[in-house]
Amino acid sequence: MARNPFRPTAGATPPLLVGRDDAMEEFTESLEDGPGAPGRLALFTGPRGVGKTVMLTEVGDQALRHGWITLAETATPGMVERLRHATTDALHTVDPSTAPTRTVTGVTIPVIGGGVTMSTPAASVVQWRQELGRLLDALARNDAGLLITVDEVHRGARDDLRDLAATVQHLIREDRDIALAMAGLPSAASDLLNDEILTFLRRATRFELADVPLAAVRDALHTTITQEGRTITDEALDEAADATGGYPFMIQLVGYHIWRLATGETIDATAVRAGVVAARKRLGSTVHETALADLSDIDRTYLLAMAHDPGESSTGEIARRLGAAPNYAAVYRSRLIAAGMIEPTRHGYVDFAIPYLREYLREHAARYEMSARSTRRRH
Ligand SMILES: Nc1ncnc2c1ncn2[C@@H]1O[C@H](COP(=O)(O)OP(=O)(O)O)[C@@H](O)[C@H]1O
Ligand SMILES: [Mg+2]
Repeated sequence: MARNPFRPTAGATPPLLVGRDDAMEEFTESLEDGPGAPGRLALFTGPRGVGKTVMLTEVGDQALRHGWITLAETATPGMVERLRHATTDALHTVDPSTAPTRTVTGVTIPVIGGGVTMSTPAASVVQWRQELGRLLDALARNDAGLLITVDEVHRGARDDLRDLAATVQHLIREDRDIALAMAGLPSAASDLLNDEILTFLRRATRFELADVPLAAVRDALHTTITQEGRTITDEALDEAADATGGYPFMIQLVGYHIWRLATGETIDATAVRAGVVAARKRLGSTVHETALADLSDIDRTYLLAMAHDPGESSTGEIARRLGAAPNYAAVYRSRLIAAGMIEPTRHGYVDFAIPYLREYLREHAARYEMSARSTRRRH
């Protein structure tokens, strides 16, 4: 039997990228269109597991196919410093004449204060800009440019993002072939876009990643399975596609577990039923649990109140269940929307944004209610 082709791991490139053709096309065109093309400043947002990291990898690959260089980073402390080093390394690769010769290796760098020395950030940024200029010069000789991708942008990385934004803005003004693609949760992105210092980022083309159409999921599951030498019955395929809810992470989880649990060459409805149960369990212990852990107790209580409904919830009714004033409940509603946990369905109504979150909350309600009560006691 062939290896399992599905990739149910955060950040793992899927066997087939489902439902992202338009976004990919827009980005690719921007590489061809030249400096100033709007797609060259891109921001991917969406809830956990929707495929933001995967999109950054895809645009990075696309840039490489155009002969560009990609520097991939995550918005954690020291990002600009790491980018500076990566820029120097890239310059040495693209233009070996800039690489230090062997004679410099004997130089000892004085250690001040016995610890790690850090150059002042400002000087470092200036130096980085100069190196970037040299790298872009070298790339321009081959008609190529540079893409920088930054994953998990959030307010905490504001300083590094400010330096990055100022640098990229400067290079775009100089008509350089540079592109910047970022990704983050909707809340993180809106925090940054409202930041006065980061006004430049407001110009970014927003790609709000959402669930993909079930028909596309069905096709992708079918193609992946048959390409790897197995088959799947129509009934099983329908059930499997439905169970994903169009949620990208769940496409990989369902695919992986139905592949694993089917015994013969053909994946049938029995295997799909068992696979969907296994997939949902994994979804709970990975996506749901981590997403809920990031929230406050009151946010979680709001979600627990929603979980009583079979479908969309009336926000007025939720406020009543919580015994909260409607305007107070509205604060939690917008926070949960920004965190990618819920979404408005129509005026006065919201629903869960992550599939099976309702079921997960119902199954684990006791645990989350307990933790909410014990923190309330402590305060
Ligand atoms: N368009 C897609 N089609 C199929 N699978 C996808 C797609 N996007 C993401 N995935 C899968 O979903 C999972 C989560 O993707 P990831 O990029 O880590 O999400 P995020 O960064 O938004 O949390 C991974 O297993 C990945 O292979
Ligand atoms: Mg990610």
